[in-house]
Amino acid sequence: MKTITIAKPDDLHLHVRNGAVLKTVIPHTARQFARAIIMPNLKPPVTTVAQALIYRQEILAAVPDELDFTPLMTLYLTGSTTVDDIKHAAKSEHIHAFKLYPAGATTNSDSGVADIKAIYPLLAAMEQQDIPLLIHGEVTDDACDIFDRERVFIDTYLTDITDNFPGLRIVVEHVTTAEAVQFVLASGPGIAATITPQHLLFNRNALLAGGIKPHYYCLPIIKREFHRLALVKAATSGNPKFFLGTDSAPHLTSLKEAACGCAGCYSAHAALELYAEVFERAGALDKLEAFSSFYGADFYRLPRNSGTVTLEKTAWKVPSAYGESDLSITPLKANEELTWKLV
Ligand code: NCD
Ligand code: ZN
Repeated sequence: MKTITIAKPDDLHLHVRNGAVLKTVIPHTARQFARAIIMPNLKPPVTTVAQALIYRQEILAAVPDELDFTPLMTLYLTGSTTVDDIKHAAKSEHIHAFKLYPAGATTNSDSGVADIKAIYPLLAAMEQQDIPLLIHGEVTDDACDIFDRERVFIDTYLTDITDNFPGLRIVVEHVTTAEAVQFVLASGPGIAATITPQHLLFNRNALLAGGIKPHYYCLPIIKREFHRLALVKAATSGNPKFFLGTDSAPHLTSLKEAACGCAGCYSAHAALELYAEVFERAGALDKLEAFSSFYGADFYRLPRNSGTVTLEKTAWKVPSAYGESDLSITPLKANEELTWKLV
């Protein structure tokens, strides 16, 4: 049987929520990954070191005894974050970055930043303290077409940020366009990007053709095939600027299959399997390990993990849902067959 063994990977962009949902999803991630960058967009958002440490304990308590998993915490930037908050966070061994959500851009982003220029003093502090900035790169302007929001964000804000803070390490999260790939390639070594499985596997037809499929709805929205191909090329290129970040974002099935469905794809149940499919199809399975296990750790200046994980070429069917019936979460590729299986 065909197998691949890679160093234990990290997920550099993950939503785990809290309460019962957290208990359902953490075992999935802990099986696959040694560590994950935990997104702070809870309700209310995780804005202080003290909140992040409490949240970290909740995550650790949900890790099955036989598994070893380290959550890497982040703080949510708001209009009221202060320079002292940045300094305080940079000193904590458990806080690894700040996340910038433009207000209103995505799930639980109401407390996000309304005026990006107004937080430049905070970006200066992050640059000085050498703590990375993670960016949800989409404008929120109603007049801007949803398929253009990432490209317009790059032109309107991102270029100006990288020009003004050349020493600030930035992850452009979940890139979805050829323009974002180009921007990252053209920027200095401190500018990197995560890429999700859904943006590598699907184009917008998966979401919109032959009936609307809410489980493919996430933000930034899945784009056309041209962009997907640019993402696959970047992910499989062996360039350390691009690394694994699933953006696995669980929502209850009832809240996705709704007249106004939530944004977010749940992929933690089969993250590595999904990426392996992409890399195999691109003839680049030899590049999967560095994308999944080295480049992210290197960017965050964390030691690379010891230990390995093995994937087998075995077909298996993804369940229709995970979790208790009243808390059901529909995974990406529900009821479909995957060709790789984590052993
Ligand atoms: C994420 C979520 O649900 O928290 N949703 C999504 O569509 N990706 C938020 C985010 O990362 O934008
Ligand atoms: Zn996310």
